[in-house]
Amino acid sequence: MKHFIAAPDASEIDRLISSALYYKQSPRADKLLGEGKRIGMLFMNPSLRTRLSTQIAAQNLGMDAIVLNLDKDGWKMETGDGVVMNGSTVEHIKDAGPVLGSYFDIICVRSFPSLTDKEEDEKDTMIRSLIRHTGKPVISLESTTLHPLQSLADAISIREKSVPGRKPKVVLSWAPHIKPLPQCVPNSFAQWMNVLHRDVDFVITHPEGYELAPEYQGNATLVYDQQEALADADFVYVKNWSSYNDYGAMPAVQSDWQLRASSLAHAPAAHIMHCLPVRRNVELSDELLDSPRSIVPLQAANRVWAAQAVIASILKSL
Ligand code: CP
Repeated sequence: MKHFIAAPDASEIDRLISSALYYKQSPRADKLLGEGKRIGMLFMNPSLRTRLSTQIAAQNLGMDAIVLNLDKDGWKMETGDGVVMNGSTVEHIKDAGPVLGSYFDIICVRSFPSLTDKEEDEKDTMIRSLIRHTGKPVISLESTTLHPLQSLADAISIREKSVPGRKPKVVLSWAPHIKPLPQCVPNSFAQWMNVLHRDVDFVITHPEGYELAPEYQGNATLVYDQQEALADADFVYVKNWSSYNDYGAMPAVQSDWQLRASSLAHAPAAHIMHCLPVRRNVELSDELLDSPRSIVPLQAANRVWAAQAVIASILKSL
């Protein structure tokens, strides 16, 4: 594997899941794989899980992990070609990229979308620029459009909790929020579930106006009625996102989309998923989050093994 910025094909996902489950049993099995190698983790936005799990994963493989909060501690970065830099940006990625490439063997970055300029956000400029100007493998820690390390952890969690021999029904269910959030997590989850279409029946439910970009919705079954979508679900992934068509907007929603125990009257065996952080009693009720039906802690724990599988795969290709 060269870069990890989107869903790979189904066979590669299978390999990554197997590798992650192996590391879950034997975290230090490859403790010498990354010896003498350095991973740089650049954050333009806050993080708890992604930052810590990736750092732990790299350390389990013997790497030195260095974190830079680029938004607070670095120079304000310019990525535009031919820009006259007489404004707020101080350093061009064309100059910083080779420097980072000389310091690190693998580079990771988190860079959220603006949610104001769809065309610009869809370019995923920071990731593309780092790939172009560092010459090193790049791992997405959540980009302007996707969150593949989260989706790998989600796929691992579904694999662990699935009943052998039964194709699970997986429902991505929109949830309310107090402010507009990116589409990265649902885009990414949908992308991975669509690649794994032989293993899961994938359904998306959301109020009208919250359609995902067609390339990510893919072949998922879209059901606007939440109750109908949830019937007989084995996994319900709860997540808010803002409108893609009316980019970054929060179209008015008439009914109550918060997931509660009563929402699951026709899905008695459903496992509840969320990537965290979650707004309790806005997106998901306490009753569900604190119940044994929640596999949210499992998803978060699996972030370590997902990151370790990805880093190991890249290290083996260096
Ligand atoms: N789920 C997730 O990416 O968590 P953080 O934003 O805390 O990293």
